[in-house]
Amino acid sequence: MAQLWGGRFTKETDKLVYNFNASISFDQKFYMQDIEGSIAHVVMLEKQGILTEDEKNAIVKGLIGIREDVESGKLEITDEYEDIHSFVEANLIERIGDAGKKLHTGRSRNDQVALDMKLYTRAEVLQTAELVQELLTTLLDIMEANTDTYMPGFTHLQKAQPVTLAHHVGAYFEMFKRDILRLKDIYARMNYCPLGAGALAGTTYPLDRNYTASLLGFEGPTLNSMDSVSDRDYIIEFLSALSTIMMHLSRFSEEIIIWNSNEYRFVEIDDAYSTGSSIMPQKKNPDIAELVRGKTGRVYGALMSILTTMKGIPLAYNKDMQEDKELTFDAIDTVKGCLALFNGMVKTMQFHKEVMARSAMNGFTNATDAADYLVNRGVPFRDAHSIIGRLVLYCIDKGTSIDALSLEELKEISPVFEADIFEAVSLETCVKKRLTIGAPGPDAMKEVIAMNRQFLDDCWMKDTM
Ligand code: ARG
Repeated sequence: MAQLWGGRFTKETDKLVYNFNASISFDQKFYMQDIEGSIAHVVMLEKQGILTEDEKNAIVKGLIGIREDVESGKLEITDEYEDIHSFVEANLIERIGDAGKKLHTGRSRNDQVALDMKLYTRAEVLQTAELVQELLTTLLDIMEANTDTYMPGFTHLQKAQPVTLAHHVGAYFEMFKRDILRLKDIYARMNYCPLGAGALAGTTYPLDRNYTASLLGFEGPTLNSMDSVSDRDYIIEFLSALSTIMMHLSRFSEEIIIWNSNEYRFVEIDDAYSTGSSIMPQKKNPDIAELVRGKTGRVYGALMSILTTMKGIPLAYNKDMQEDKELTFDAIDTVKGCLALFNGMVKTMQFHKEVMARSAMNGFTNATDAADYLVNRGVPFRDAHSIIGRLVLYCIDKGTSIDALSLEELKEISPVFEADIFEAVSLETCVKKRLTIGAPGPDAMKEVIAMNRQFLDDCWMKDTM
């Protein structure tokens, strides 16, 4: 048990208390950020004349040595220390002696941990956005190749109107596009440096907080020291964005599971992304899609947990906040894993285009267009709706579809029908005529695809790296 704060105490910490309090088992995940923050801190201290150049050089060299040794495995992070901050500082003192004891001048673990977590999360926001961008690229490629691959569009999971595969996938493109934009907003809002806030009330040293912030790539310093050490909003915002990404992945997974079912057969998931059954030799299961759907609950859980942890905490730092880490790390790793796997699954998935088109042809997906045909020939929409309703009933009775009827049969139901009705209710016409922006008509779709290609080319992460 090695602690930074023994001076005031006359007794050893109880072992169970020590273990309950310690965070090293999980905060070691940001040892690099801890060292990066410490280097910026001492560079600033020297510029301000608080440390000598020799002291700064010795500390920076020592810190780089620790980072290299941890990376190479020469130095192991053990639970002998309470947290990663104590581990780094104790090791530094061991390596360089008295100069190491000056590292913590004008700093508290409260602003230190606030910084470490922020640096870690900031990088993860970018990495998540990159994975979403990769998925968007896959989706756009599928859209480009399928502007005239017909399929039924559904409402209430009942066939509604014909769309195209490009259009259906395009709906998910828009969802994941908003996810990237959300990450961009979060990045901009969180990008202020808490270091220099001290324990809660700043410090009495002449720190240059602007300088530290710029060394670490922040927009500037945070503006209230009590808020700086106790703000976890950005974690909550990030978890909320991650939850929304999972919700989108889960909806898409659910569709893929349905499309991949024996009844639908719209798609075939690649062997590399499917699993078998230990007893039923014929089985090929969509486990990846199911797991992505399943893991959504775990990410929502992290969001609810941290919202609840934060809700009763008075200013400023309280130890409750240590609970911000494990679930956040788990949620980030989960979402990144799901994005990468989902992308691979979609990229390698086969679309059975003829099955989709056949499915779009039956189920009366052209009934609205048949009603529109009558409206265009002067029948009021409400009457047209009722005429086509009767027509559908007639077809159901005869076990046929609107386009398979003869003109005589059609005329019996409404004399307004002429020979051009067949062209008007063909699958191709039904889709082609939907030409306003956002609709599945191939020309409208191509315009949207071009706009989205531009969006991907301009993606904001490139300027941030
Ligand atoms: N492990 C602590 C955390 O994660 C570091 C900050 C400790 N500060 C303190 N005053 N005990 O929040």
